[in-house]
Amino acid sequence: MSSLTYPAMAILISRLINSFNKGPGPQLTHDGNFYSLMLFITALINLIAYFSMGYVTNIISQRLTRRYRSEIFASVLNQDISFFDEQQNTTGAIVSRLSTAPTQLQELLGFNVAIIFITLVNLVSTCILALILGWKLALVVLFGALLPIIISAWLRFAMETRLESSIEKRFAASAAIAAESVAAIRTVASLTLEDKIVERYNRPDSTRVTFTDVVRCRYSNCLTDIVEKSGQSFLWINLFFSTAQATVFAAMALTFWYGAQLVLRNEYTQNQFFIIFIAVLFSGEACVQVSTFTTSLSNARSGANYILWLRQQRAKPVPLLRDDREVSDDEKSSGPAAVDVINLEFAYRQRPGVKVINGVQIQIDKGEFVACVGASGCGKSTMVSLLERFYQATSGHIEYNSINIDNLCPKNYRQNIALVQQEPTLLSGTLRENIAFGLEREPTDGEVEDACKQANIWDFVTSLPNGLATDCGSSGTKLSDGQRQRIAIARALTRSPKLLLLDEATSALDTESERIVQAAIEKASRRDMTTIAIAHRLSTTKRADRIFVFSNGRIIESGDHRTLTQLGGMYYNMCLSQSLG
Ligand SMILES: Nc1ncnc2c1ncn2[C@@H]1O[C@H](COP(=O)(O)OP(=O)(O)OP(=O)(O)O)[C@@H](O)[C@H]1O
Ligand SMILES: [Mg+2]
Repeated sequence: MSSLTYPAMAILISRLINSFNKGPGPQLTHDGNFYSLMLFITALINLIAYFSMGYVTNIISQRLTRRYRSEIFASVLNQDISFFDEQQNTTGAIVSRLSTAPTQLQELLGFNVAIIFITLVNLVSTCILALILGWKLALVVLFGALLPIIISAWLRFAMETRLESSIEKRFAASAAIAAESVAAIRTVASLTLEDKIVERYNRPDSTRVTFTDVVRCRYSNCLTDIVEKSGQSFLWINLFFSTAQATVFAAMALTFWYGAQLVLRNEYTQNQFFIIFIAVLFSGEACVQVSTFTTSLSNARSGANYILWLRQQRAKPVPLLRDDREVSDDEKSSGPAAVDVINLEFAYRQRPGVKVINGVQIQIDKGEFVACVGASGCGKSTMVSLLERFYQATSGHIEYNSINIDNLCPKNYRQNIALVQQEPTLLSGTLRENIAFGLEREPTDGEVEDACKQANIWDFVTSLPNGLATDCGSSGTKLSDGQRQRIAIARALTRSPKLLLLDEATSALDTESERIVQAAIEKASRRDMTTIAIAHRLSTTKRADRIFVFSNGRIIESGDHRTLTQLGGMYYNMCLSQSLG
């Protein structure tokens, strides 16, 4: 209804002007009353129409925004781990996009888009009316005035879109600096980097910012540069906006001038002229009104682009050679897992030329306790990441109970594995929640207590006033490193995994504590699960059934402690340097 307001107004007003032309009398009183009533009804229709439209579009946009916000978050969480290694996907950048993209999209989904639609329909209907009533004048005005307004609006939109994308990159870079600095606040404080980081925050560029950049002030793009670039763009945007505003009056001037000629030549009646003139007036205003929404449109475009990009990034669907449920049932009955690593090679996407894992071949029997040792950076944690299926091997593959893990659903597969990482992270919540996270069923109090005792953390838990109900703080910051590690071990043991992966899992524990935890793991290990442990401290891995010595992504020695020490190779030298006979 509102979309037809402009042509209706053009007809009503021109009729009213005609009535005035007839001079004072009863006809003028009648026409005046009639057309005023019509205009009043138009006002009422508009009131109801705009109110209902605002109400409905608001509900729709709120719902869609909530859906997209949740989609972005879910999409981010379901990305491949390698996605998070990319420099544009830092925590800060993602968190910033998570808050801005849905809001940007809301601008397109809400009231604005309805207004744009109504205005465009108004524009088209007034143009059609003008063309029907007097095509000559209508065409002259359409091409002479409305077209320049539309072109200006389009150019403004294009400029704003470009500016928006560069602002966004800078904003993401700033957010990345903020997130990194807050997360590493202790490092920032101890290195007294506060002022330099604030300075860097004010001068973000699109590249990833490292602390070295901050310290050495390696800025490729300073604030002045950014302000200058934005300033130039804003100049153009302003010029296009002013042109659109001014062209409305130019359109009126053109209509007056050419319309008067046509009326003088008796080609058009006065009534025709007024309808077209008013139609042009409204159309011009409509165009200008639409052009003011270019900012919303370019914002929405940027938000929508991010969502589409995320959808494209999502890991490819996993090919399932066998029914998922069937596979899990197999695994349930099989007890400890057998793991075969077959000619495995892997290079990180950021460094494709460097083979971090280079032709690794390991066969691990059910219930075996194996250890991987080697110098720092030789690829041990990467091996664990590949076993967890965080990354796809470059060549070769890993078999879990004789099934290629690439053919298993990652979520089902990971249900059978427990991982204690080098720096375990706890999530905000209570100790009990952290121990039970990810389990299909709620563990009993007895199970949690057992796991805590095995991880040698039960005494600490019972010493707390709230026991297992104690809050760990965000990322477990309220606990010491050793306590966090032991909670992570308890969490791993509660899962009753078929395969336990320990990556320096006891590195923060004191010798006595480590001995107790180690004994508990070894006991559970051979009976219920297969264990792969990584440790620098060789005393931790000494009792392993087999030890694999890694060097530059290859296995150079393997065997038990006694065999390897007798071999007198790298393992022997490592033992010597740790005074381990
Ligand atoms: N996400 C990553 N992107 C690119 N390279 C990586 C990534 N993670 C690790 N690397 C590189 O891969 C190599 C192996 O790293 P990895 O973490 O597996 O070593 P590690 O044997 O566990 O060392 P440490 O004993 O110090 O924990 C290193 O050279 C490291 O720089
Ligand atoms: Mg490591």
